[in-house]
Amino acid sequence: MAVRVADAAAAASLLGLLLLVSFCSAAQSITTHGSGGGGGYVSAVGDPGMRRDGLRVAWEAWNFCNEVGREAPGMGSPRGADCFELENGVDENGQRTYKVVHRVTDADNNLRAGDPFPGAPANITDIDLYAPAKELYLGNLCQVADSPAPWQFWMVMLKNGNLDTTAAICPENGRPARPFPQTSRFPCPGGAGCMNQPLVFHNRTALDATGRRLRGGLFGTYDLDAADLGSKDVSYYSVTWEKDLGSGDAGAGGWVFHHKLRTSPKYPWLMLYLRSDATTGFSGGYHYDTRGMTKIVPESPHFKVRVTLEVKQGGGPNSQFYLMDMGSCWKNDGRPCDGDVTTDVTRYSEMIINPETPSWCTPRRIDQCPPWHTFRNGTRVHRTDAARFPYSAYHVYCSPGNARAAEQPTTYCDAYSNPQPQEILQLVPHPVWGEFGYPTAKGQGWIGDPRAWELDVGAMSQALYFYQDPGTPPAKKRWSSLDVGTEIYVSNHAEAEWTLSGFDILVPEDCVGSSGGGPISRCL
Ligand SMILES: *[C@@H]1O[C@H](CO)[C@@H](O)[C@H](O)[C@H]1NC(C)=O
Ligand SMILES: *[C@@H]1O[C@H](CO)[C@@H](O)[C@H](O)[C@H]1NC(C)=O
Ligand SMILES: *[C@@H]1O[C@H](CO)[C@@H](O)[C@H](O)[C@H]1NC(C)=O
Repeated sequence: MAVRVADAAAAASLLGLLLLVSFCSAAQSITTHGSGGGGGYVSAVGDPGMRRDGLRVAWEAWNFCNEVGREAPGMGSPRGADCFELENGVDENGQRTYKVVHRVTDADNNLRAGDPFPGAPANITDIDLYAPAKELYLGNLCQVADSPAPWQFWMVMLKNGNLDTTAAICPENGRPARPFPQTSRFPCPGGAGCMNQPLVFHNRTALDATGRRLRGGLFGTYDLDAADLGSKDVSYYSVTWEKDLGSGDAGAGGWVFHHKLRTSPKYPWLMLYLRSDATTGFSGGYHYDTRGMTKIVPESPHFKVRVTLEVKQGGGPNSQFYLMDMGSCWKNDGRPCDGDVTTDVTRYSEMIINPETPSWCTPRRIDQCPPWHTFRNGTRVHRTDAARFPYSAYHVYCSPGNARAAEQPTTYCDAYSNPQPQEILQLVPHPVWGEFGYPTAKGQGWIGDPRAWELDVGAMSQALYFYQDPGTPPAKKRWSSLDVGTEIYVSNHAEAEWTLSGFDILVPEDCVGSSGGGPISRCL
């Protein structure tokens, strides 16, 4: 089910003048920059633009190093899903009726480590291994047959940023860690047990009283003893999804995901994202087989992302709000990841649109900058070239902890927040990003400036610096996870709120190929 850009642009006219203008210029830029024999673009996701009535959404919760650790009391393994079909009927008066037919039961969502999966002789007692197995099980229930590959769901991701350094629960760059005293960089205010999974309450999607609007959601807290989820001293998150029936048929409307995230003194570092993950293989930051929405994994430089974002509350000065967060994995010698956490390296790049986010990369702190900046036309500028290097385009760069030849001086990335070493390149709005459709000035896309973006994430990610060992062939940059959301870093009482809709990933029609791992976009 591929949606062509022309259809999407035509449909967008229903959204009103403002959006019309941006969508039309988007469509135009796609025709002019289109690669390969003038072909069109096709969607790489199962539900292009989030328009399908029968929604597929799942959720996952991670501890600091992207595992479970311990299940929260009474909550089961931290994976769940809300997947349904909308069935049409006719009542006795000849009026059309609609019915939501769910594919995932509460019993499925409540499954916890050790429970067998219905219909399969599973008996996985390891809590960390059970969650990915449950994700595959839920994926089977939600899967939609499609070409060139089936797909499963959008993924809501929750992550608790507390790290109990004295417990040595998280590996250091993929190797067993030793305990060390708590530092301000790694909060664990509640002491032992601070890395807990959240409470998760689910409102199954249902039609409202008018019978014409679908609504569902999920909410909860990390404060397991919370009496009042409305209290400012209690951490909180919620995601609700809403859609008018049939609104997707005309292309306008579609699902709107409304997010809230609040930190508390005991849980000062929290993350909430909506991800489009690959339907098979590892997704960024994760070393188990996952399920998702991206049926064709996009490869740099040939893909674009569309998303409509309205930020209502920013989440304070430490809220790293990612207009686009891309995650992938390849080894320092350029080979794809294979699950060996000592040599696999998670690669992340994010554009942080919070205007309060400073540039740590400066002419005096080049250890916080990538070695090179590359313009779209291929011109490279070294970070010591103070006259030409765009320092204020970067928040921070950090090298993988296992990079044996990282250009010095450098800062190495946090060794504990992934199951394996990681490399992170964080950007902030700047004129140099304009050539990729990204924000060019602080405040763009922020509170009071909702926008429909078309980002040339493919060309941008191709131009960005990522470390490789000297003399190794360049890695294929395949982005198995593309998401939007915020990471609120150590803040006692911060609150963020935003809506997201219209998410799509577009790849050139004539570049859809396949690799061992499944369909990818690859222009030869
Ligand atoms: C699951 O495995 C455990 C440990 O091997 C065993 O004690 C238990 O009986 C098994 N349960 C089922 C339902 O097979
Ligand atoms: C869940 O449902 C309750 C009761 O209808 C409602 O008050 C609440 O806002 C819903 N929350 C979410 C996150 O969907
Ligand atoms: C490439 O683009 C940069 C930034 O716009 C510009 O300064 C430079 O002159 C360009 N180089 C070439 C060869 O066109």
